[in-house]
This record gives sequence, C-alpha cells and structure tokens, in this order.
Amino acid sequence: MSIKRKDALRVAVLASGRGSNLQAVIDAIETGTVQAKIVAVISNKKDAPALERAHRHGLSSLFVDPKPYAGRPDSREAYDRELLDVLRRHDVELVLLAGYMKIVTKVLVEAFANRMMNIHPSLLPSFPGLDVQKKAIEWGCKLAGCTVHFVTEGVDEGPIILQAAVPILDDDTSDTLAARILEQEHKIYPRAIQLFAEGRLRVVGRRVVIEGGKPLGETIINSS
Ligand code: GAR
Repeated sequence: MSIKRKDALRVAVLASGRGSNLQAVIDAIETGTVQAKIVAVISNKKDAPALERAHRHGLSSLFVDPKPYAGRPDSREAYDRELLDVLRRHDVELVLLAGYMKIVTKVLVEAFANRMMNIHPSLLPSFPGLDVQKKAIEWGCKLAGCTVHFVTEGVDEGPIILQAAVPILDDDTSDTLAARILEQEHKIYPRAIQLFAEGRLRVVGRRVVIEGGKPLGETIINSS
C-alpha cells in the first residue's frame, strides 16, 4: 500500500564526479515525476562537476574534505561521522549515492539502513566494483545493465530494488556500452526514488518487494 506524504521526501545526494545521475534526479523532481526535495548535494571532491550542477539549480552544495582525516586508522569512519552530522542537520530521509566513489562505512549504513540507495552500472550480483563495463565485455556477456540497490556494508551487495538490461553489441567498447547503460540509469534511479517516496519498497531478507507492483514485477528489460 502506498503512503501519501504531506511533505516532499528529503533527499541528499553524495557524488564524486560528473553528476549525470544527479542531473536525472534533479530533472525528474523539476518535472514532477519524482516527489522529493534535494536538501543537500555533498561531494568528497572539491571540483566535482556534480557540485556545479547542484549550484546551477539553486541546491545546497557542499564539499566535505576527506584530507583532515587521512592517516588516521579510523579515517573512513571519522569522515562518515562528519557526513552523518551534515545529513542529520539537513533532516535527510533518503541518501542517494550517485557516482560516489568512496566506500561508505557502518557509521552511515547503520544510520540510514534501508534509507540509502546506490546506482551501479552492472547487473548485480555480477561485476561489483570498478571497470565493470569492460569486464562484462571481456567475459563475453550478451547482456549488461544497471542496478539500484539499498546500501549495506558489503560493496555493491545490498538488496536490489530495480534493474535494467541492455544488449552488449559485438563492436561495443567500454565507452559505448557505458553510454547505453547510463541512459537506463537515468530512468531507473528516479523511478526507485519515487517508489521509495510512495512508501512502496519493503525489504524482506535480501529481497525488495515492490508493493502494488505489476504482476511481472518492476524490472525493466531493454526498455526504451
Ligand atoms: C555511473 O555510471 C554510476 O553507475 C557509477 O558511476 C557513474 C557515475 O556517473 N557508479 C559506480 O560505479 C558505483 N559503484 P555520474 O557521475 O554521471 O552519475
């Protein structure tokens, strides 16, 4: 059963780079496809284009410098404690990792259990980690794709919310494949956020049940 909210869902986006997924979420909110409000865009990279995008749309954008924590045995946790502070100050309900290239620790995972999502450019559980489009081609896979999942402590391991698949063509390079996958990322991430905003995602063990989903589920295959 979906829940009608009084106020827009308060979302924070963590991004390290280009920010095209952030842009897709901003666009979906601006066109009313997603009922949410981005209350903070946070980066671990000072020059991340994602921060610039946030700024252009009048969103609060923030660089949180990891350097002061470098060299400490608990550097990642200490950094995440600072992030947690920022997220709490902004009353964040849902955290989105969008090209956030830093491993999040227990500190954030526990505080945002089932309230933190990531987008990854492979059909998990195949190909977690980096260079995944190249790996999919090298393995001779016929399909590749992307996954939106809740974040747990294991990298790219959390319960899967939505996936989209695309074909791998004989003449694909990692770049052409990545571009085809990215188009799908920009569709399924906003969709997953809206499902969350509607209160339709229920985590059962390592599965995510979509309440009121279509009989065949919400998985998109080769959607255009
Ligand atoms: C996206 O393809 C996203 O799936 C990937 O980084 C890219 C960021 O692009 N994320 C990961 O690989 C995380 N494991 P963007 O900055 O344009 O959104």
